[in-house]
Amino acid sequence: MTGSSPRVILAIETSCDETAAAVLEEGSRLRANVVASQADIHRQFGGVIPELASRNHLEQVNILVDSALRESGLALGDMDGIAVSCGPGLAGALLVGVNTAKGLAYGLGLPLLGVNHIEGHIYANWLTHGQIEFPLIGLVVSGGHTALTRMTGHGRYELLGQTRDDSAGEAFDKAARAMGLPYPGGPEIDRLASEGREGAYELPRAWLGDGSWEFSFSGLKTAMMRLVQREREKKTLNIPDLAASFQESVVEVLVEKTVRAAVRFETGNVLMAGGVAANRKLRERMARRAREEGLRLYCPEPVFCTDNAAMIACAAYYRFAGGERSGWDLNAIPGMKLYSAK
Ligand code: KG4
Ligand code: ZN
Repeated sequence: MTGSSPRVILAIETSCDETAAAVLEEGSRLRANVVASQADIHRQFGGVIPELASRNHLEQVNILVDSALRESGLALGDMDGIAVSCGPGLAGALLVGVNTAKGLAYGLGLPLLGVNHIEGHIYANWLTHGQIEFPLIGLVVSGGHTALTRMTGHGRYELLGQTRDDSAGEAFDKAARAMGLPYPGGPEIDRLASEGREGAYELPRAWLGDGSWEFSFSGLKTAMMRLVQREREKKTLNIPDLAASFQESVVEVLVEKTVRAAVRFETGNVLMAGGVAANRKLRERMARRAREEGLRLYCPEPVFCTDNAAMIACAAYYRFAGGERSGWDLNAIPGMKLYSAK
């Protein structure tokens, strides 16, 4: 690390359908973390409508910044740096956060930093655990992203493999939709699966060959849809059983590939990140397999798995400490990448 990080960071997150703000002191003391979800607005459409997301962020963002400040017991004048997710995400949604952060940083004369949203998810682990050992294997599973990465130091990622089609979160959301469950489907499946039998329905697992670090969920999605249709016609569809069977087929592949990568690359540390990392079955199975293989497992508290601004503040803390700053030309980068090629 070459620079010193601002003592108190105000962070803003508006990349998808959560408006969020947080105040983080010295990289570890979370003084405020507020999130306003737009799920109720998008639910009637079965997914996020980008135009509605941007407009709602615009209405909410200053209110969220105010409530984060109130919760923190600090004033705007006490902030030392401003951070914001600048990508990946929905362009219009990101622009609301980026412009708000720029206005604040410019007006207050503070350093500004645009943060990669996926890096934020990864750094949610530092909020929960403080210290983490490198190198590590990271499983990033969110609504827009599913990847296995090898992390060798702060901000240093090597992509091992990612999904060829849907993300794990999309797979949960689409499967839920096929079963007639509301958006977002992940938490619904998580809840219902605990009342169902995992082996009740047979569903495929996409291993994609020995030693592949890639994922694919489209075959599973198609199999699910066919099964739902068949079971509906026969009037034998058991939703908790199907939720449990579907969840098991996603979780098994995610866990086994992560554990194999840790063994293959002789990495004793494994980390999980992203909204799907809140899934209870995934956490349980990963914890058991990590124990069996003698791996140290890091997982954020469930509240820091889904979108929030505390994780953005935490990622910013380490980037600021490395001497990074954004210029006044900071823009939204909807397709922003995190990893360097292998
Ligand atoms: O990381 P995130 O909050 O947003 C993105 O950056 O995409 O992830 C949202 C995704 C959604 O697909 C949601 O269904 C899924 O995470 N999710 C879950 C759970 N909680 C959220 N999936 C499975 N089990 C959960 N408990
Ligand atoms: Zn996210």
